[in-house]
Amino acid sequence: MARKKIALIGAGNIGGTMAQLCALKKLGDVVLYDVIDGLPQGKALDILHSAPIENFDAQILGTTKYEDIAGADVCIVTAGIARKPGMSRDDLVGTNAKIMRQVAEGIKSYAPNSFVIVVTNPLDAMVTLAKQVTGFPKNRVVGQSGILDSSRYRTFVAQELNVSVASVSAVVLGGHGDDMVPVRSSCQVSGIPVERLIPSPRLEEIEKRVRNAGGEIVALLKTGSAYYSPASASIRMAESYLLDRKEILPCAAYLEGEYGVHGYYFCVPVLIGAGGVEKVVEIELSPQEKNAMEQSFAHVKELVQVMNKILAGS
Ligand code: APR
Repeated sequence: MARKKIALIGAGNIGGTMAQLCALKKLGDVVLYDVIDGLPQGKALDILHSAPIENFDAQILGTTKYEDIAGADVCIVTAGIARKPGMSRDDLVGTNAKIMRQVAEGIKSYAPNSFVIVVTNPLDAMVTLAKQVTGFPKNRVVGQSGILDSSRYRTFVAQELNVSVASVSAVVLGGHGDDMVPVRSSCQVSGIPVERLIPSPRLEEIEKRVRNAGGEIVALLKTGSAYYSPASASIRMAESYLLDRKEILPCAAYLEGEYGVHGYYFCVPVLIGAGGVEKVVEIELSPQEKNAMEQSFAHVKELVQVMNKILAGS
């Protein structure tokens, strides 16, 4: 059986890290695409030189030609610009929408049967555009947001209680902005509701830190945004698809009535398997969480409108 083919569109910080993860996890052959000649080729060669040490046989190809992504099983898009200190994810919308339009055309032409994972910010708008331009069905276009946000929630709760992250389960839903919704009612530590272990005012501080975690990293790095954890989150989604793991993961999915949302992308738990997004899973939310989801959704709607206006004028 031939190896699977994973196309990474954007060979920057996240793209390069994902290429290495694909190789280490033996997920398949990798094509690393970018518009900057030399960047994808250099990173691909560097990773390839680690093959004898890490014991993988995958091909890692760096390219500036769309033809090379032909027949890809999965396309993961990070093409675009990243945040600098003082910027919100939404500040990227104008520049990244134009890039996303080109990228989605490339995917549509050369990898028409692929499963597309969008990572570029502002995520909820970019994944919407990717679906519009490719015309792919909703099960084959999905956005990475909640796995990372949930992982940050789990990390902070585990640190607070000095327990393994493996013992903490949590989800963060809604838009991938500062009004994302950490779902406290479903956060548990080895089956124990987190509210019994951490006092409410401290939980509020932790949840605030979760919402601002991306910004905290931007402020520290000063020249870009987080990349190790977004890369891990995106590869987890690709893995569930390629290996038909049927993991239930919080992702930005196209909703048609679920969670009261019609015709928009919004982060909710979904089952990812060989059929792509096979199912949207509805979980019970407290009245306060429902309210926070509504507020977050209003922001997503506004963001998509802003993007559509910019695109209509360009
Ligand atoms: N086609 C392909 N690649 C492009 C294009 C394009 N039209 N335009 C820009 N790129 C490339 C850049 O050349 C750069 O190498 O996208 C890459 C982006 O890499 P980084 O700047 O290192 O950004 P990264 O940290 O990888 O984040 C990428 O993901 O999480 C989001 O907010 C983040 O929007 C950002 C994206």
